[in-house]
Order: sequence, then C-alpha cells, then structure tokens
Amino acid sequence: MKSGASMLKSGFHMHLMVKRLKGKKTNMFGKKEYVRRVSNRPNEANIYLDPTLAFCNWSEVQKTRRDMLRAYTFPRAFSARYNDLNQIIGEEMDFMINHLDSLSNTNVHAKPLILHSCANVFITYLCSKNFHLEHDGFRHMVANFDKVFFEVNQGYAADFLPFLMPLHHRNMARMAHWSHEIRRFVIKNIISDRVNAWNGVVPEKDYADCLINHVKSGSEPEMSWNTALFVMEDIIGGHSAIGNLLVKVLGFIVTRPDVQKVAQEEIDSLGIAGNFVGLENRTSLPYVEAIILETIRLIASPIVPHVANQDSSIAGYRIKKDTFIFLNNYELNMSTDLWTSPEKFMPDRFVQNGRLLKPEHFLPFGGGRRSCMGYKLVQYLSFAVLATLLKNFTITPVKNEDYTIPIGNLALPEMTFKFRFIRRLDEVCLTFVSNESFTDITRWLSGGQKNV
Ligand code: HEM
Repeated sequence: MKSGASMLKSGFHMHLMVKRLKGKKTNMFGKKEYVRRVSNRPNEANIYLDPTLAFCNWSEVQKTRRDMLRAYTFPRAFSARYNDLNQIIGEEMDFMINHLDSLSNTNVHAKPLILHSCANVFITYLCSKNFHLEHDGFRHMVANFDKVFFEVNQGYAADFLPFLMPLHHRNMARMAHWSHEIRRFVIKNIISDRVNAWNGVVPEKDYADCLINHVKSGSEPEMSWNTALFVMEDIIGGHSAIGNLLVKVLGFIVTRPDVQKVAQEEIDSLGIAGNFVGLENRTSLPYVEAIILETIRLIASPIVPHVANQDSSIAGYRIKKDTFIFLNNYELNMSTDLWTSPEKFMPDRFVQNGRLLKPEHFLPFGGGRRSCMGYKLVQYLSFAVLATLLKNFTITPVKNEDYTIPIGNLALPEMTFKFRFIRRLDEVCLTFVSNESFTDITRWLSGGQKNV
C-alpha cells in the first residue's frame, strides 16, 4: 500500500485501487488519456451501452462525438445557448409548480413528475421537442430510460469480472427490450421528420441539427446513422441521472425542516419576482448548491472502473497496460480522514464564509479527459429545480413513509417516496391561523374591529 493506492491480483488481471489522490495531476487525470472506462456489460448487451460515450474508446469518431456534444453540455454562462436553457427550464418549472398546486393536500409520487420535467428540458434543449405529461408514448419512454438507468447503476461484479457475465443474460435481454422501445419513440416522435426533410446543411439550432448535418452531409470522420441515434439517446438519457438525483435530494431534505428553512431564507433574501429561480442566481445561493453537492457526495457511484491502455504510473506504482484501475469514490467521499462525520447529511460542510467550497478530494464527476460530460447540466438543472421548488413549497413527509436513501447508488426504484408540497403562502396562513383565534380571523375577514 503506497499513498492511497493498492494493487490486487484476481485471475489473470491486475487491479489498482486508488483511494487518495496526492497533488492534482496523476497520470490518470493528466492531459493524455492513459485510461478508458471499462464495463463488460456493453459488449454482452451489444445494445444501448456499447456506443455510449462513457464506455467508448478514444478514437477519432468518439473525439468528434465529444466535441459536438461539448457545445451543448457545457454552455458558457450567459451565452445564447445558456439563456435558451434557462428559459426552457423556467417554462418547465412553471408547469411543475402549477401541477403541484393542483395536487395540494395530496401525497405526491414525485419521481414520475420530476423525471418528466427533466426529460422535457433535455429534449426541448437538444431536439426542440416538448411533450405533455399525458403523452403515453413519452411517459413510457421516460420510464424505459429510468429502468435502464436503474439497471446500469446496480454495479455488478460482472462489470469487471467477465466470467460472471453469463449470470446476467436475463438483465441484458430486458435492457435490450427497453432500449429498442426508446429507439422506436425517438425515431418516430423526435427525429424522423427532420431527417426526411433534410436537403442540405441547415444552420444549427440544436444538437439534433448538429448530428443530422454531420451524418447526412457525410462529414469526416464518418458517423453511421445508427451511431448518431445512439449518441442522441445516450445524452437524452442523462435526464434520468438528474431526475433520480433530485428525488434523493428531496428524500434528504423532507425530514430536515431546518435545512429547508436555511435554503428558503437564502432564496427569500434575493427577493426574486415570480415563481422561477433562474440560473443567474446560482452564485448567490451557495447553500442551495451545497444541498445538491452533499447529496451527490452521499450517493455518487462508489467505484469508477478504468483500464490502462498503455504502460504508465500512478501514486508510485508502475502500471502495465491492461491493468484495471478503480477510483474508489466511496473512500474519497466517506473517509473520516477527509470529512467530519461523513455519514451525516450536512450541506454546510460545502459553504465557507458565505461561499461554496469544494475540497480537492471531492471528485464525484471524475477528472481529466474522461470526466463527466454532463456535470454542468447536472449543476444547472438540479439547482434551478430545487431552488424553485423551495421558493414555492415546503416539502413535508407523508406519515409512515420510509425516507431511507441508499448510499453509493444514484438510482432509485421506479415508484419511490411520496411527499407533500405545502404552498409557502398557505404555510404563512396556517401559521397565522394557529396564532390567532378563529373568532378573530372571522371578524378580520368580515371587516370587524380586530386589527391584525
Ligand atoms: C449526478 C449525476 C451524475 C454523476 C454523479 C456523474 C458521474 C460521472 C462519472 C463519475 C463519470 C466517469 C468519470 C471518470 O471516469 O473519470 C461520468 C462520465 C460521463 N458522464 Fe456523468 N454523471 C452524472 C450525470 C451525467 C449527465 C446528466 C450526463 C449527460 C447529460 C452525463 C454524461 C456523461 C458522459 C458522456 C460521460 C463519459 C465521458 C467520457 O468518457 O468522455 N453524466 N459521469
């Protein structure tokens, strides 16, 4: 064991487990790509995951895919694209708030609603399409993405021990089925009209244009239509990660009124008009951001597997090509050496002197060239949804509901956690009613003498 890393041997494979990162740049996170992410599932399923960016190699096609995507997943703050995204989120949040208003005094299964809104934001932003909550096909597609996401996040040993793979044939077949259904919906409802209408390179208004132009004009490096569709679904599917994250955020704060109160005071202090808390307020609301970071710390995937694609070295170990490398996020997020009371949900550990503070060992999105391509969208969308919900509602528990959140796993089952969303105006009235006698209130309402 040397400086936060250990070497293991299993079968024919060497494994390096990285638990600490001294200094910012090890080879793993340096400029060259010495590692690629690894999973055996994609090859077995040969569907859905195989061409995902997360599991792909560093070929020219994949580099082009990343470059095309980057403009959309990392919109520069206050650029036209960022403003579009902000507006799209705002419109979707109007719908969500109205819908939750119509469900006041009921127990709400928040996950389908949150997933629907996240999916709509993604599809409107990337493909300029939008679907109603009642659209059966869209609902089904969102549910299918969520099932795939749940399955991918189960973290089977077979992901890096290939000989265990035969045990997972049934899961693979189910994933293939859900993926085919997603593909059918995307072709029919999102993309086919535009592909059929294409008769020359069009000015790029969204990511769909970018992909269609590339494939149809035969640009280099060549990309098949099949790959382009995978790419599109791959990234649309990112909404499931954010939706699941948000439901977990609500699961943490529903039993912590003190956390909600601090966040609401922070939001109220900005005096924002209307219901929507837009992205322009991010830097002024560090505590809201900290709630999201604290949730991510507790639920981020514990192990991110990679394999060295050339001889290298990490933390003093010589790494031979084909060695498996695990970044042990569980240790990085939960070690008592790195955090005070790591098992506790304490958002203020990420706030110092009124500013957001992220320790260097906090790497929930990885690092270097193969780090998460969706992390900005995670930050933007989860911030705007959480801040807007808390501006308008206090979230309260439903009797007998168990809000235990699984640690080290981003995904939640399909039907999970019911909540109550209490309108904050009603909340003020309720406090008022409890402070005044009903007689006084009735007198006040009918214009009587009691001056309140
Ligand atoms: C809370 C949500 C999320 C978490 C915690 C997360 C975390 C991660 C991690 C740990 C990696 C691997 C990094 C590494 O190997 O060093 C990764 C890769 C990736 N993520 Fe995310 N992610 C999230 C959401 C998203 C979303 C919403 C998208 C898409 C919009 C996305 C797209 C990707 C892609 C494309 C890669 C592969 C990048 C590459 O290999 O070049 N992620 N993510």
